[in-house]
Amino acid sequence: MAASAPLNVVILAAGKGTRMRSARPKVLHEAAGLPLLAWVIRAAQGLKPEHLHLVVGPETETDAAQGTLPGQDAVTSWSVQAERKGTGHAVAQAKDALQGATGYTLVLYADTPLVTTQALAELVADTLADGADLALSTFETGQPAGYGRVILDAEGRPSAIVEERDATAEQRALTLCNGGLMLVRNAVLFDLLGQLRADNAAGELYMTDVVALAREAGLKTRAAELEQALLAGVNSRADLAAVEAQLQQRLRAAVMEAGVTLIAPETVTLCHDTVIGADTVVEPNVFFGPGVSIGTGCRLRAGSYFEGASVGEGVIIGPMARLREGSQLDQGVKVGNFVEIKKAHLAAGAKAPHLTYVGDAKVGERANLGAGTITCNYDGVNKHQTTIGPGAFIGSNAALVAPVSIGAGAIVGACSTVTEDVADDAIITTRAPARLKAGAAERYRNRLRQLKARRENGGG
Ligand code: UD1
Ligand code: MG
Repeated sequence: MAASAPLNVVILAAGKGTRMRSARPKVLHEAAGLPLLAWVIRAAQGLKPEHLHLVVGPETETDAAQGTLPGQDAVTSWSVQAERKGTGHAVAQAKDALQGATGYTLVLYADTPLVTTQALAELVADTLADGADLALSTFETGQPAGYGRVILDAEGRPSAIVEERDATAEQRALTLCNGGLMLVRNAVLFDLLGQLRADNAAGELYMTDVVALAREAGLKTRAAELEQALLAGVNSRADLAAVEAQLQQRLRAAVMEAGVTLIAPETVTLCHDTVIGADTVVEPNVFFGPGVSIGTGCRLRAGSYFEGASVGEGVIIGPMARLREGSQLDQGVKVGNFVEIKKAHLAAGAKAPHLTYVGDAKVGERANLGAGTITCNYDGVNKHQTTIGPGAFIGSNAALVAPVSIGAGAIVGACSTVTEDVADDAIITTRAPARLKAGAAERYRNRLRQLKARRENGGG
C-alpha cells in the first residue's frame, strides 16, 4: 500500500525581484499570459493540499487583503513578510497558519513556474516511500550560475546546499543545483527554521540552510532529481523569456496533440487558456492573448491577433486580422485581411473580407460587409451599438454611425454615411451625386500648364 500523509503547501512570493528591474513585483510578471505566481498556485492546487499558504511582500499586501492576487482563490491562508530577510525567514511567516498541521509541508518558490502537479506528486510519493524527513529537488546543468549547489554524501543524500555567493571555487564547479522546492516533515520544519543564522554573504536567513541543520539533527534527507525544464527559476528578464519559451513549447505540443495543425509552431504564441478545435490550421505568426476559444476546422491565416474571442466551426480569419475582447464569430464566418472586431457578434456565414472595423455590433447571418466598412461606434464620450440584419449588403467604404440599425436584406450604397435606421429590404445611398464632364481633364491640365508657364516667365 502506498504511504500517505496530509500535505500542506507554502508558496513564497515576497521577494523584491531586484534583478527584474521592474516597478511590478516579480511574481506578478506573466508567462504565456498567466502571472508566475498563478502558475505555481495552479500546480500546487492540483495536489489538493490541506493548507495552501501564501507569503507575500508589502507591495502585494493590499491585493492579498482584497483577495485579488492572481490564483488567490485556491489559497487558504496568507501572511506578509514585512522585512525581506531571506527565503528561510519567508517560510517562517507561515508558522501561525501551519505549526499545528500534520504530515509534510511543501515549500515552493513563486518564481519557479514550470513545475507541474505531476512532478510534485511524484516527489511527494517517492519521499513518503523513502521515509525521508526532508526532500529537495535537484537538477543537473552545465550552466549552474545563480543557483545553490547541492552537496551529496557518500550515499547520495544531500548534506548541505551552498549558495553561489557563499561557495568556494570548488563548490561552484558543482553542476548539481537546488531547484528550490523542498518537502519537509511539518513536525520538524519550524524548529529547523528557528535555528537559521544569517551568517552568509547575503546576510539572510536561507531556507537552503535547513538541509545541513536537518543532517545535524540526525534527520533523513533526500535529493529528488527533476528535469531542469521543470525547475527553471525566474530572476531576470532573460530568465522570464526562457520560461516563456518552455511554456510555449508545452502549449504548442498540447494543441498539436489535440489535432491542430501549426504550420510553423515556433512562430505561434499561445496563452495558458487558449482552446483550439481539431482540424483547425494555424498559419505562421499568429498570436493568442487570454480568453480565446477557436472551433474545429478553422483556418487562422498568417499574422492574425486574438484576445477574448470565441470562434465557431469552419471560420476563416486573416491574414492580419485582429479579434479583440467580446468577438463572437459563428460557424462559417469569413474575416479577411486588416479587419478588426471588438464586442461584436457575427452570425453564421457573415463576411467581412477586407479592411473593416466592426465594434459594438451585431451582424446577422450571411450579411456582407464591403471593403472599408466602418461601424462608427464612438462619439468621443459614449460607445454605441450597430445592428446589421441577416443578408444585408454593406457597400465598400460605408460609415455606419451608431446607434444605427440596418434591416434584413437591406443594401447600403458604397461610400454612404448612414446616420439613420434603414428598414428591411430598403436601399440607402447617401453619397454626393456624380458630376461627369466629357473631355474636361485635358482642358484642366492645359489651364494648369498655362498658369505654371506664366509664373516661370513673368516672374514678378
Ligand atoms: C533560491 C535558492 C537557490 C535555488 C534557487 C532556485 C535560497 C537561499 N536560494 O535562490 O538555492 O537554487 O532559488 O530557483 O533559497 N522570497 C521571499 N522572501 C525573501 C526572499 C525571497 O518570499 O525574503 C521568495 C521570492 O519571491 C522567490 C523565492 O522566494 O519567489 C526565491 O527567492 P529568490 O531571491 O529568487 O532566490 P534565488 O536567488 O533564486
Ligand atoms: Mg529565484
